[in-house]
Amino acid sequence: MILVWAGACHERRALSKPEFTLKTPKRNLLMVWTSHPVSRLKGVIRAPGDKSCSHRALILGGIAAGTSHFTGLLEGDDVLRTGTAMQALGATVTRIGPGQWEVTGTGPRGLSSPAAPLDFGNSGTGSRLMMGLMAGYDLTVDLVGDESLSARPMNRILAPLRLMGLADTAEPHGRLPFRLTGTNALKAITYAPPQASAQVKSAVMLAGLNAHGTTIVEEARPTRDHTERMLRGFGAEVAVKRGDGQARTISLPGRQPLSAIEAAIPGDPSSAAFLIAAGLISPDGNVLVEGVMSNPTRSGFFDLAELMGARLGAEDTGDAAGERLIDIQSGSAALIGRNVPERLVASMIDEFPILAVIAAFATGETRVTGAEELRVKETDRVKAVVDMLRANGVEAEEREDGFTVQGCGGPPPGGGLVETRHDHRIAMSALVLGTAAQQPVSVDDISMIATSYPDFLSHMASLGADISERPA
Ligand code: S3P
Repeated sequence: MILVWAGACHERRALSKPEFTLKTPKRNLLMVWTSHPVSRLKGVIRAPGDKSCSHRALILGGIAAGTSHFTGLLEGDDVLRTGTAMQALGATVTRIGPGQWEVTGTGPRGLSSPAAPLDFGNSGTGSRLMMGLMAGYDLTVDLVGDESLSARPMNRILAPLRLMGLADTAEPHGRLPFRLTGTNALKAITYAPPQASAQVKSAVMLAGLNAHGTTIVEEARPTRDHTERMLRGFGAEVAVKRGDGQARTISLPGRQPLSAIEAAIPGDPSSAAFLIAAGLISPDGNVLVEGVMSNPTRSGFFDLAELMGARLGAEDTGDAAGERLIDIQSGSAALIGRNVPERLVASMIDEFPILAVIAAFATGETRVTGAEELRVKETDRVKAVVDMLRANGVEAEEREDGFTVQGCGGPPPGGGLVETRHDHRIAMSALVLGTAAQQPVSVDDISMIATSYPDFLSHMASLGADISERPA
């Protein structure tokens, strides 16, 4: 029997002449991970530590004077590699207990060349922020990464660093692996990143921290502002001025000393989004996620879900590391497709795969524009999202700068095998889709989920999800 789907949200059925055959990965797979539909998802989960804040805590702690203590640090592979890199450059990074870390910094201008190449694995944030930091020291370092990271553009970081005085790297294409030779003589610049990217902004600021003069970053659209907030927490002077519309100008005087801090890392809204989405699409959903960072530069997914008809309960529960914390509650909702306002794009840049999942359950079309940055994430996320939905019987189209989804007005067919392409967020999105689709949804790999959310499977299981490994 040949299983096919035709058009938007059609039931799978056997046809003698298929209009479409299901898309499946070409590799020969022995095992896949399958998420089976469940009638109910219910429970309370504490959000894992925020990935962006965890990287920054290790980096800034590693150059501050004194010993910093962090609790709730995310122990995902990406973050651990940043810790290992800081240690290799001269900081002392010690795990005291689960999520509890102690970092003794080198103090001003204390980093030195590592003995071996720094391997950033899958981590765009770790590699790019560290490039900015290392550019301002007299050191030489070889940077390597996995297949996905080695395909991602690094000229967006190297270009402003060269303007500041970084010597050319030997790599003409701006892809890892390459050698970076930093200099203690960087000069401050004024830079308007061509992309809405917190990684570019942060790399320039971290280089600026060791440069002569005041570094200025002009952002047309605000991106996550954890570097600004955390630098202030470590005692640095950072000025942020609002301009026309959403524009921001960030000024950072160079050669500022940092002092060690004690901080609790706030919960990750990007990880929480998977749980909140699971509650929304479940036939009987009631999910409470505790301790989520509430920051306008990260809240786009929750704002959009509410525009689509979700009623999310949010209760203020205090502060952590200069960020507000909230508990967020979600339950089953009849969602309506929307055009995603472009002003929300930067604040939900990591949430488009899971947005696509809730859009598949909504009534009507969801349209994403102005999100061309999705093309250069862990994989081309426009393509990966569209392929994920099509493999599960949902009509979706690529656009140059986004995608459209024709919602099924209820559970989509499911039944597909999703190619995850080294992308943790595609894997988690597909497994959430499977919890409430008509048929199970499988993924070809889950190993990369550990880069950002090592407890994802156990958290989903505690809500009642049925996700297991089985022969392909
Ligand atoms: C991040 C910035 C974003 C985001 C990434 C984390 C950060 O990347 O996608 O997951 O911590 O600065 P871009 O700067 O490429 O948008």
